[in-house]
Amino acid sequence: MCLPLFHYHDIPIRPMQTKRRVYIETYGCQMNEADTEIVVSILQSTGYVRTDKLSTADVLLVNTCAVRENAEQRVIGRLGDFNHQKKINPNVIVGVLGCMAKHIRNDIMVMGDFIDLIVGPDEYRKLPALIESALEGEKGIAVKLSRVENYDGITPFRTDGLSAWISIMRGCDKFCSFCVVPFTRGRERSRTLSNIIKEVEYLSSRGFKEITLLGQNVNSYNDNKCDFADLLLMVSGINEKMRIRFMTSHPQDMSEKLIEAIASRENICNYIHLPVQSGSDRILNLMNRNYSADHYRNLVKRIKKAIPTVSLSTDIITGFPTETEEDHVKTLDLLKEIRFDGAFTFKYSPRENTKAWNMNDDVQEEEKVRRLCEIIDLQRSISLIQNKAIVGQTVEVLIEGPSKKSGADYCGRTDTNKMVIFPKNGDLIGEYKNIHIERVNSATLFGANTLKILEQAHVNIPQEG
Ligand code: 5AD
Ligand code: SF4
Repeated sequence: MCLPLFHYHDIPIRPMQTKRRVYIETYGCQMNEADTEIVVSILQSTGYVRTDKLSTADVLLVNTCAVRENAEQRVIGRLGDFNHQKKINPNVIVGVLGCMAKHIRNDIMVMGDFIDLIVGPDEYRKLPALIESALEGEKGIAVKLSRVENYDGITPFRTDGLSAWISIMRGCDKFCSFCVVPFTRGRERSRTLSNIIKEVEYLSSRGFKEITLLGQNVNSYNDNKCDFADLLLMVSGINEKMRIRFMTSHPQDMSEKLIEAIASRENICNYIHLPVQSGSDRILNLMNRNYSADHYRNLVKRIKKAIPTVSLSTDIITGFPTETEEDHVKTLDLLKEIRFDGAFTFKYSPRENTKAWNMNDDVQEEEKVRRLCEIIDLQRSISLIQNKAIVGQTVEVLIEGPSKKSGADYCGRTDTNKMVIFPKNGDLIGEYKNIHIERVNSATLFGANTLKILEQAHVNIPQEG
């Protein structure tokens, strides 16, 4: 089946009699979570309401991730459930959004006829018109990437809460040889500083306590010569009680000015996610990361000097083409030396279009898994040592909500992004509280009088995009 290219300008959007219900599931990174809020905002402004009940929805959408193959497989599995729902209710519209949009076209041939729309990350403004067209029985694809679309004027839909994501830029120009993002999300574009500031002011007035500035590489934010350090300083000046987080940073672009900016403000969190990917220069070079392990070491030294209490996390890929045991040991050695507070670890997954796609994926699956497990075990022991150093200290926590494991306890985070469990004691969600840390495991800190059972409850599972 070949889907006709759809001209969305041709379809008038009719006023709806009753509000249509849209169900949307999000896979992948925080950028995708933020995109879903943009999608919901666009649909709400044309009369839709969001529902969390798949069975009652008129429109089923899945916002997809293509970074690794297993993320794609999960989405394809889920689409099977959407297909089932469409058999029960043939009027329901099924749409695939986001990073998988472009190459899902081929899979549709295999999967069948139940998908009505395919919309890439830069085409969400067309969604209402595409849905109208699908209701008329016409399927639609809109997957063009844009050099300018950044949804700057759209206020993402957010229910009231404590924390909000804010996309400050889209796309990526780094072209790391393993990464599909420059192909699925397109070239780098920054939002305007003034609109970001307005959004933060609005969130502050609504009572949000924490925002996270998001971009594939926030260090290269640029609006009219204002860089990311300028943006951070301005945003952190809006409400000094509001915590400011950011991710992701690229080791090549982390400037002294940015480190100073982070160090200079209390409410800019002392937590930096700084993916290193490998400890071997040979592999870093093949990955097109444009830095050496020594550059990374020196950068971390400078960061730790300027921000002594900083907490660092990283991403590691195991089994990149040609990675030898010697390369792998260099990664282990780097982990031991830097002592990250946490690491997200991934098996290399070949992605079409990328430069590494043409390299021989020559590290056997079993070996990739062995190296991955070794890295996870090492990092877990390092995280435990890092956390043990906090026992006996008092940390300030933003109370996020009830602990998932115990009704008597709350959970919250330190500014260094560590999860803390502590007794409720009549405190309120959204308040800051000082907690004396009595014990820890590799993933969590515990205040006094929390249930002992919690100590074993948490394992550090690698994040899947
Ligand atoms: N295979 C494995 N991991 C990948 N990542 C990105 N692309 C791939 C891939 N093809 C990881 C990197 C990146 C994180 C978001 O996902 O570590 O920093
Ligand atoms: Fe992908 Fe590299 Fe860009 Fe990160 S910096 S999104 S890994 S290309």
